[in-house]
Parts: sequence; C-alpha cells; structure tokens
Amino acid sequence: MKGTPVTEEIVEYMIRMFPAEDELLAGLREQAAIAGLPPIQISPEQAAFMQTLLLGIDARRIVEVGTLGGYSAIVMARALPADGELITIERDPLRADFAREQIRRAGLDSIVRVMVGSGADVLERELAGSGPFDFAFIDADKPGYVRYLELIYPLMRRGGLIAGDNALAWGKIADADTEDPDVRGMQAFNNAMASHPGLQASLIPIGDGMCIGVVL
Ligand SMILES: C[S@@+](CC[C@H](N)C(=O)[O-])C[C@H]1O[C@@H](n2cnc3c(N)ncnc32)[C@H](O)[C@@H]1O
Repeated sequence: MKGTPVTEEIVEYMIRMFPAEDELLAGLREQAAIAGLPPIQISPEQAAFMQTLLLGIDARRIVEVGTLGGYSAIVMARALPADGELITIERDPLRADFAREQIRRAGLDSIVRVMVGSGADVLERELAGSGPFDFAFIDADKPGYVRYLELIYPLMRRGGLIAGDNALAWGKIADADTEDPDVRGMQAFNNAMASHPGLQASLIPIGDGMCIGVVL
C-alpha cells in the first residue's frame, strides 16, 4: 500500500493536535443523541480541516445541503466574518428546529439561516440566482448529490470550493459491483466532480472522505 494508513491512534492524534470541537459542540452531540438524532455529523478532524479551507479562501458566503443538528453549520459559520452568511437546508423540520436552537446558543443566528425543504427544491426554487457563494457543502441524501452539484455549480464564485462528504462511502467506494444506492450515489458524485470541466477536484481521505473541487 502507498501512503500511510490512517489508524484510530492517528485520528486521535489529529484531533488532539488540531482541536476544533469545544464544549458547545460536544454538548450539541450529547443533546442530539438524547433527542434521537443519528450521530452522522462531520468528525472533529473534518471540522478542523474545513475551517482551515474556509479561512484560506476568505469565505464569506456558504451554502450547505444537510443540516442535521447544526454541527457542521456551526463549525463553518465560526470561520466566517461577522457579516458573513451561511444558508443550510434540511428536509426534516424537527431537525431544523433543533439546529436553530443550537445555532442560537452558539451566537450565530444572525449569520446562519436554516431553510426547511428538500435540497433540490430549495436550491432550484428559492436559491436560484442567490450566488455567489464561496463554499458549498453537500452532506445529505447520497443519490441526490449529482443533482445538488448541478444546481450549486452556477451559484459559485470562481475560486470557490464545492465539497461533498462521504466520498469514501463507508469504505465501499471502490466496489464496482455494488447495488447499494448510497454507494452508487457517491460513485456518481465523485465521477461528476472528477470529470466536470469547470472543476479541479480531488478526494481527501479524512473522516469518511471529502471530495473537494475548486471552481475554475
Ligand atoms: C449526514 S446528515 C448532515 C450532517 C451535518 N452536515 C453535520 O455534519 O452536522 C444528513 C442530513 O440531510 C438531511 N437530508 C436527507 N435528505 C435530504 C434532502 N433531500 N434534502 C435536504 N436534507 C436532506 C437528513 O435529514 C439529515 O439530517
């Protein structure tokens, strides 16, 4: 094998060395578990990586598909200036309410807007022409990713970044024979990112993998 396998021990080292999860975010995870939300938010080492990217591109406006309890929204909003904006879309109204409360607790409600609805509908009907965005984070239903990419791309500024989570599809991304619709969705998304003439993309094996493309 080329490169270094990322073991649990190495992940723990990364989180210790580059911490991005404070008490508020740890508390959010605990409250989300009590509220019955699934523990499928980004990992703390992904959080640190995303904040580094956002600060590196001087991000001011972000769009996210897939809010859950607001963990990634808070992480990203913390890397925005006070007059920045983050719009996050969640299909489940109870999750959206939970996220709004957490965002309020984090003191970020003036820059984060949670929109309820299906990602494609909201992007198509309510956010068409609402760009330019500096960063887009796709982290919702996997079969929808390619459509989200199509809808988000025209909203991005040149030099902006589009990132999709779960690019390693829980370790199954290289399974060419899979019939799992979620894995197939991620394979289609990685393929769309890799072959998009307006993107320079690569796959970073952090967390469950992030496929990230810069808009050319
Ligand atoms: C992996 S979770 C998002 C995690 C979140 N980005 C974080 O890291 O904190 C995916 C979320 O997408 C939502 N979702 C699924 N399908 C959706 C759709 N079609 N439109 C909008 N949201 C959707 C789910 O309800 C779920 O809360």
